[in-house]
Amino acid sequence: MSIKLSLSSADPLNVAADVAVIGIPEGTVAKSEALAAITQALGASVKKQLEREEFTGKKDQTAEVVTNGALRVTRVLLVGLGSAALRDVDVRLLAARAGRYALAQKASSLVLALPADVAGAERAAAEGLVLGSYRYTRHLTGDRLPKVSLGQATLVTATKLAGKAAKAANEAVALGSAVGEAICIARDLVNDPPNELYPETLARFAADMCKANGLECKVFDKAAIVKKGMKLLVAVGQGSVRDPRFIHMTYKPAGRGAKKRVVFVGKGLTFDTGGICIKPAAGMEEMKGDMGGAANVIALMRAVAAVKPDVEVHGLVAAAENMPDGNAYRPGDVFGSLDGKTVEIINTDAEGRLVLADALAYGRALKPDVMLDNATLTGACVVALGPTVSGFFANRDDLADRFRNAAKASGEAMWQLPLVEDLRDGLKSDWADMKHMADRWGGAITAALFLREFVGDVPWVHVDIAGPSMASKAYDVYAKGGTGHGVRTYLALLDDLARS
Ligand code: BES
Ligand code: MN
Ligand code: ZN
Repeated sequence: MSIKLSLSSADPLNVAADVAVIGIPEGTVAKSEALAAITQALGASVKKQLEREEFTGKKDQTAEVVTNGALRVTRVLLVGLGSAALRDVDVRLLAARAGRYALAQKASSLVLALPADVAGAERAAAEGLVLGSYRYTRHLTGDRLPKVSLGQATLVTATKLAGKAAKAANEAVALGSAVGEAICIARDLVNDPPNELYPETLARFAADMCKANGLECKVFDKAAIVKKGMKLLVAVGQGSVRDPRFIHMTYKPAGRGAKKRVVFVGKGLTFDTGGICIKPAAGMEEMKGDMGGAANVIALMRAVAAVKPDVEVHGLVAAAENMPDGNAYRPGDVFGSLDGKTVEIINTDAEGRLVLADALAYGRALKPDVMLDNATLTGACVVALGPTVSGFFANRDDLADRFRNAAKASGEAMWQLPLVEDLRDGLKSDWADMKHMADRWGGAITAALFLREFVGDVPWVHVDIAGPSMASKAYDVYAKGGTGHGVRTYLALLDDLARS
């Protein structure tokens, strides 16, 4: 269900809404107009409350004021904004907090006061509200099913907008909410249970999404995957009764002229048991999210359809289910690949890099200016960077810098890891061109080195999202469960590539 968003320049406390969220810059409690209005309506007790709680507007401080009917809103959440100059990322976070507060309060309407003088505040606020108020409820029934959801949000601008500025602000809100909703697609797909979401249903979802948004979409079923020669994708999927799928989505910008072409690739393991090298039972249910990279690519394509960047964008998904079975692939097996190289299998739980290898070989043939893959690839990356930071690798320094800046601009935590050449020897095989993994040291790096074998000279970024793709609790703009971490960075990268 989508939230109806509107812009207004009315007094935020005079909007009919269940809750209001107001950001307070540090040290402005005494001179805040909003607070003066609240104090006027409720009396000096508010001032006392804020003193008692030592609320001064420090970053991330909050105070909740209950209005008991004295104002049109029933509750006001004051959020400290700190003293540093605000950027759009701060507004997104404030709005996400507001969305989360609305959920907690079971509010159906909310008013959010936007801080003054922040470029991009409208779009960021809309994005943040949608992201913060997200909740996955598809399989809840009866009392567990929430009766209210946030249906209406009013964004109050610090200054009155008219004419062109008003039109631009409204468009920014629409764009922000479209991007926010696109990211929620990635979250839904990650949260969907693996008995319902498997390669065939994932591909159907992607095809339907493309159709509804004017994007091209080709789906390869198992026979087409075999015919194409994607032998590694077939191998990973052969132990499951649910056949693999390969998905190719395309966005072409309107107008003529040479446009950059960018290929995004996502790992789409709709469930990863580990296969014959089966994983321990504890926590295995989380492996329903092993298609987080694929979910991001599908969400990105949806966002691209709304943002319409001046770049040609291809989204590729290699979807399979990794199961132990009489027909499953095994350690010691040797397979060819779409690229032609042969690969010796060591551990069937290192399956992601195999499906990605074929997808990258397919992507390379599209002759892109940039290719980016993202995957819940290695536990080693989570050990290295913790659960909230993605690791990225690049085969060009200038591209690494661009990607780092895109991540920074979008407020997503990404840290570059090195393609350590010394570790390449670990991929040598006696029985095939290469093994798909080395020993345990530098596991995220050796996975990246394996992938690099399939990209040729194409400028390439590999993002290991194993940590942040799912969250054990809500934080930042992310919800518990699927997060869609990465999508905003990829959008920012496209924006940058479109401009230069
Ligand atoms: N999907 C997992 C990686 C993963 C682990 C993602 C934890 C999210 C959270 C991947 O397929 C895997 O099993 N990787 C192995 C590789 C190893 C066998 C070389 C790993 O990281 O242990
Ligand atoms: Mn695995
Ligand atoms: Zn996996």
